[in-house]
Amino acid sequence: MKDLAGKVAFVTGAASGIGLGIATALAQAGVKVMMCDIEKDALDKALADLKKTNADVDGVVADVSLKDQLQAAADATIESFGKVHILVNNAGVGGGGRYGEWSQKGWDWTIAVNLMSVIWGFEIFGPLMEKHGESGQVVSTASIAGLVAATNPPYNVTKYGVVALSEGLRRELEPRNIGVSVLCPGFIRTRIIESNRNVPARYAGAADTTGENSTVPPSEFAEMARQAIAAGIDPLYVGELVREGIEGNWPYIFTDLQFEPSIEERFAEIKAGFDRIRDRVPRH
Ligand SMILES: NC(=O)c1ccc[n+]([C@@H]2O[C@H](COP(=O)([O-])OP(=O)(O)OC[C@H]3O[C@@H](n4cnc5c(N)ncnc54)[C@H](O)[C@@H]3O)[C@@H](O)[C@H]2O)c1
Repeated sequence: MKDLAGKVAFVTGAASGIGLGIATALAQAGVKVMMCDIEKDALDKALADLKKTNADVDGVVADVSLKDQLQAAADATIESFGKVHILVNNAGVGGGGRYGEWSQKGWDWTIAVNLMSVIWGFEIFGPLMEKHGESGQVVSTASIAGLVAATNPPYNVTKYGVVALSEGLRRELEPRNIGVSVLCPGFIRTRIIESNRNVPARYAGAADTTGENSTVPPSEFAEMARQAIAAGIDPLYVGELVREGIEGNWPYIFTDLQFEPSIEERFAEIKAGFDRIRDRVPRH
């Protein structure tokens, strides 16, 4: 999508971290941004800060894991800005809990926020983009953990789901003039480790993302990840990459090269799986 100035974007999880970085970068490019988040105070502050820069932004509080609230947020976007061209499915939580301590609520919360909100985001916003006929773009925040499964299986499952959804819908929505990108960040300096601050009441006790109350010791990778996030990439830099990804309709938006070798190793394992049975493929 070229010429972003004057277009309208809806960004979830926009009050902090990567979502705020994306909302800021888009606003700086002249996009009108509806910022959506579950955390009202953080959202109010983010809106006030951006408005000081003369950005054309508005805000809506919603728990995007609930389809009705996502629909209401879409309605509010149309009411404020008349139409919508860009959907950024970014809200997400590092939930799920450690293997050996899994709970139904932990899995449900993680799947609802990280995956179901993206599924309903496509369903609700796709028709709104088709309606005005000026083209659309959907960017969904998965993770490098959507391409390599290192730790925290509930998180990996949802992020692989976001990658699968984006790859599949990219083909399906292209003829409808809607581009689809998936953002797969590495370690970004945000509050993802403190995701428990956003557990909705219905999932109370769902997960212990900080690990502080866990009896299962953290994996070496989890400890490394915690430190890497604290020293991670600036979310505003990620926002700039996303803006560029939208302009170029990039299928994959990466933030750095750290995990490229791990992804190559995974592809090599998959290739080895095919090679192992190459001589035995049944002939039809
Ligand atoms: N930080 C990283 O290193 C990293 C790496 C890869 C992917 N990601 C992904 O980036 C996305 C953004 O996370 P972040 O790192 O900026 O974390 P963050 O905790 O700083 O920001 C997440 C935002 O989402 C909001 N949110 C949480 N649950 C919500 C809900 N139910 N409804 C609406 N809003 C909700 C939070 O209030 C917060 O503003 C997530 O999808 C995350 O999985 C982060």
